[in-house]
Amino acid sequence: MATKQCKPRNEESPSPQPSPLGTTERGWRVSTLLLLMFALLPLTGCENEADIQAATAMTGGGDPHRGASAIRAYGCGTCHTVPGVRGADALVGPPLTSMAQRAYIGGVMKNTPVNMIRWIQDPPAVDSMTAMPKLNVSEADARDIASYLFTLK
Ligand code: HEC
Repeated sequence: MATKQCKPRNEESPSPQPSPLGTTERGWRVSTLLLLMFALLPLTGCENEADIQAATAMTGGGDPHRGASAIRAYGCGTCHTVPGVRGADALVGPPLTSMAQRAYIGGVMKNTPVNMIRWIQDPPAVDSMTAMPKLNVSEADARDIASYLFTLK
């Protein structure tokens, strides 16, 4: 299991500024701030950092950030909906949501990192009937793309 390394961003209490509104008002502001901090915690990317490290490890060094750019560059979004990739909202192929949890790729191959890299590089070589074309994705790019897809839980 990857360790979470989330620390509260602000350990110091807010600097005690004299408030014309009095302590009650200040108390409200502090608790509102705390509430906001907790509400925004899932958006700070702490969980995501662990997912990114795991995806890099399982793909043998794939970089999910580069993978997201490669997904845009190769135009995967003209056929797929890919969460987190702007503009990737097509439905020609299946949405790549929760790709990390799927049992199979294209319904024919076990969903493992090695198989995913292979599929991305040359789908017709895996399944001659597939509608997904070969897009001449380099192995390095396929590795990065696979690592991005494995962050999608
Ligand atoms: C021309 C449309 C098209 C493009 C472009 C395309 N795909 Fe696909 N893709 C498909 C179709 C159709 C399928 C379903 C194939 C099947 O099941 O045989 C598919 C299947 C997949 C799957 C398996 C999904 C599943 O549910 O099993 C993955 C992963 C995938 N594509 C990734 C990509 C990536 C990454 C790119 C960009 C490098 C890309 N695709 C570009 C059409 C496309």
